[in-house]
Amino acid sequence: MNNNSIILKNLGEDGLSKISSEFYKIMREDDLIGKMYPDDDWAGAEDRFCKFLLFRFGANQDYIKERGHPRLRMRHAPYLIGEKERDRWMEIMDEAMTRCEVPDEVFKELHDFFANVADFMRNH
Ligand code: HEM
Repeated sequence: MNNNSIILKNLGEDGLSKISSEFYKIMREDDLIGKMYPDDDWAGAEDRFCKFLLFRFGANQDYIKERGHPRLRMRHAPYLIGEKERDRWMEIMDEAMTRCEVPDEVFKELHDFFANVADFMRNH
């Protein structure tokens, strides 16, 4: 079994969806990067992110059907993302995973995945 299917098997679709929901709860209150998100569409943002995770970890293809290829770097180009923004995003994600009681081993896998992508999003 590869790492992706281990993550999905361990957390289930519900687990990934809970992480997305906790993440956006914290993000809404964030004063550094929270304001980048569409204030009138928090539910939509959460839905896009959650579907991305479900796609990325092999649960289903809904994200691709609705949004096409992720092209995450291109989609993040409108936002100014430097080290501070990247690090805050990671702090919020780690806090969300902690609140969801993600088991240590899976926590580390997910943390490393998110850290790689977050670093790749830097454009400033
Ligand atoms: C590095 C700091 C990051 C910042 C400041 C940031 C910020 C944003 C913002 C403002 C949006 C628009 C919200 C919306 O309307 O959907 C967005 C969308 C999104 N972000 Fe990030 N993001 C970051 C890192 C990441 C990482 C690490 C991932 C994935 C591992 C990610 C995945 C996504 C996805 C899937 C979307 C929706 C794309 C779509 O439109 O289909 N982001 N992000």
